[in-house]
Amino acid sequence: MTYEVRPLGPDDNKLAWDLGSLAFGYHEQPMPETWNSNSPGRHTLGVFDPAGRMVAKAVDREQGQWFGGRIVPTSGVAGVATAPELRGRGLGRLVLTRLLEGARERGAVLSTLFDTTPLPYRALGWEEVGELVYWTVSTRVLGAIRPDPKTTLRPATEDDIPAVYEIYRQVARAGTGLMERSGPAFGATPAQLLADYHGFTVAVDDAGVIVGYASWDRGPGYDASGRLTVDDLIGLTPEATRTLLAMFGGWASVAPTTVLRLGATDPAWSLIARVDAKVHTAQPWMVRVVDAAGAVAARGWPRHLTGEVDLDLVDDVCPWQQGRWRLTLSGGTGRLEPGGAGTVRLTPRGLAAWYAGAATPEQLRRTGFLSGGDPDTDELLRTATAGPPPTLHDYF
Ligand SMILES: CC(C)(COP(=O)(O)OP(=O)(O)OC[C@H]1O[C@@H](n2cnc3c(N)ncnc32)[C@H](O)[C@@H]1OP(=O)(O)O)[C@@H](O)C(=O)NCCC(=O)NCCS
Repeated sequence: MTYEVRPLGPDDNKLAWDLGSLAFGYHEQPMPETWNSNSPGRHTLGVFDPAGRMVAKAVDREQGQWFGGRIVPTSGVAGVATAPELRGRGLGRLVLTRLLEGARERGAVLSTLFDTTPLPYRALGWEEVGELVYWTVSTRVLGAIRPDPKTTLRPATEDDIPAVYEIYRQVARAGTGLMERSGPAFGATPAQLLADYHGFTVAVDDAGVIVGYASWDRGPGYDASGRLTVDDLIGLTPEATRTLLAMFGGWASVAPTTVLRLGATDPAWSLIARVDAKVHTAQPWMVRVVDAAGAVAARGWPRHLTGEVDLDLVDDVCPWQQGRWRLTLSGGTGRLEPGGAGTVRLTPRGLAAWYAGAATPEQLRRTGFLSGGDPDTDELLRTATAGPPPTLHDYF
């Protein structure tokens, strides 16, 4: 059968809603009148059979993620679905391959996604590099943390939101993979952002500077089921982190459980014992390199590392980046230019895991994603992307 793959137009929204709602379990809900699969920053591709039925779809989200202190243009993949009767016949591969082509054409150099199953994405070169984890902690445990007497807390106002964004950005810039919360997919006004939460608290130091914040929801009930959910808790100073955590401890009598979204190396772990925290939910996420030369140019690299490695990239899904390349690192910037001896061979999953700093060359060799090279090339590649573990707090 010949299928047509094309971007969705406004008349295709109902078909996209029907396919997506069936796949993701909200089929009983009517499509909201204002719903648009191509809301700002989203580009939906559909696969249509000769009768005009939509049989598969996928969304490319324009976003940026921080790697090495710079924002890398990324395609966030979402809403991937194939009609139930036609799964396992290549339609997912078809739509995702075309999505990668289109994402590259619009300037994305990397793709990320939250996978419900890694299998179809691994087959196409994405690799899991991290997971978004909400942790469950007994609120009483937080009650043992003492607030800093010189740090004050107050509800955020709309005027505080630029400072709040800057605090998040400061942490994101120093991390690996964290979302840049601007651009078309992040169009909420300060008022909308505040309205999204039951509580939005800022921590202010004794000089009057906002040095931390927390965004949180108070679940229903005040018995054993009472719960707080904290999406962001970011302290730039130890006092801010401590004081915000202590505030949640004050809820122990009516919300015995606190659920916190925290990265693996968050400073809050210096105050919460790991033994007191259990995984509430864990959502793995994956990376794929879409434009290797562009991805190398876009991210930051260690400023004190200088060197070259010849790579041989294996990639039949993104053939434009297949072949031999010379990686040159100098003064915090990187270049990938065609040519070289192809000394180190990387599969797409190996390239993704290395780029994200999720695996060392030694690990990748043992996995079968890297071959060739020697201890010197291993050392250069390992140091090049070593850094904080890949972390992403924004589900999409
Ligand atoms: C996930 C989904 C979109 C895959 O679509 P599909 O049309 O079945 O995928 P394809 O037939 O093109 O398969 C693509 C590749 O993934 C592999 N694959 C897909 N599903 C697989 C499975 N369940 N187990 C093992 N491999 C699988 C295929 O072997 C294929 O690899 P290959 O081309 O190298 O052989 C489809 O199963 C679906 O709609 N699932 C429900 C919704 C969902 O989970 N969406 C994903 C959200 S992250």
